[in-house]
Amino acid sequence: MRNARRRLVSRRLSPCAPRLTSLAAAALSLAILSACDGRQSSLDPAGREATEISQLFWTMTIGGAVIWSLVMALLAYALMSRRRVHPERTASVTVWSGGIVAPAITLTALLVYSLPLMPAYRDQTGDLAVEVTGEQYWFRMRYRLPGRDAFETANELRLPLGARVELVLKSADVIHSFWAPALAGKMDMIPGRANRLVLEPRKAGRYRGVCAELCGESHALMAFDIIVEEPERFADWAREQSLAAFAAATVEEKRGEQVFAAVGCAACHAIRGSAHVGAAGPDLTHVGGRPTIAAGLLPNNVGTLAGWIAAPQDLKPGTTMPAFRTLSGPDLRALAAYLAALK
Ligand code: CUA
Repeated sequence: MRNARRRLVSRRLSPCAPRLTSLAAAALSLAILSACDGRQSSLDPAGREATEISQLFWTMTIGGAVIWSLVMALLAYALMSRRRVHPERTASVTVWSGGIVAPAITLTALLVYSLPLMPAYRDQTGDLAVEVTGEQYWFRMRYRLPGRDAFETANELRLPLGARVELVLKSADVIHSFWAPALAGKMDMIPGRANRLVLEPRKAGRYRGVCAELCGESHALMAFDIIVEEPERFADWAREQSLAAFAAATVEEKRGEQVFAAVGCAACHAIRGSAHVGAAGPDLTHVGGRPTIAAGLLPNNVGTLAGWIAAPQDLKPGTTMPAFRTLSGPDLRALAAYLAALK
């Protein structure tokens, strides 16, 4: 009876078992593959600090593997060798060398190797400073470049290749954490405090950074783009960013500009060169030129801008951006078209 039940159970399970195994294998390979995506990987470094962190990781991993193998070999030897009484002197030498001297040497060497990698012992001067403030749930980037008007972007950190960049990290509300794994280690953003993180991008490209400290219900939707480019291209971008916004050109954009003023967007958002100077939300002077909107959540185009304006809470719970559900379809499209044109 028990055997029959066991056969029944195994028959019931058997068709699912291979499917479960392949599902697990697929999930594992997905996890491994996503970890290899260089845009957000500490193991595919694109900056000086990240390279040093990656070297530390591999040194510790390989060193740990060598020590583990050695201990396992000794264990196997101890288990398989014939039991005999060891002289007290041999036992004492083994315990002292293996239990005290070897760990002391290894850990001291590791400490000497890793201390210079800590921010407190590094050269913290930068060629360029960017103030990054964590907000609910986005990043405000403020550039003050010599010879230019200060300007702000949101969730877009552009950096010139090869420069030492000093990030001044702040928070407007709760504790956030700035983490751009491909470029450097992470650093907390604490209200009432300015933390400094210096990084040096060494490979041009587009990377992804995230908030790495639980800061509320949409913490996982708080990301930013990092674009590392040649110094000349960065200078061109900075020059364009410091200029006032483009004027609305088409009939639809002009209608969008009127909607922007009429529904009160300017209470929170600024558009430099206009009368709109709200400071609570992201500066929208050049919003149309950003790669993504809503802190890395959506690609930037007229459709996603319209969707975000109409229902931000549905896309990012807890965001302070109110929903504008009452806008008519044509008004919403015009407003999105106006914002998309602010390149
Ligand atoms: Cu901000 Cu998590």
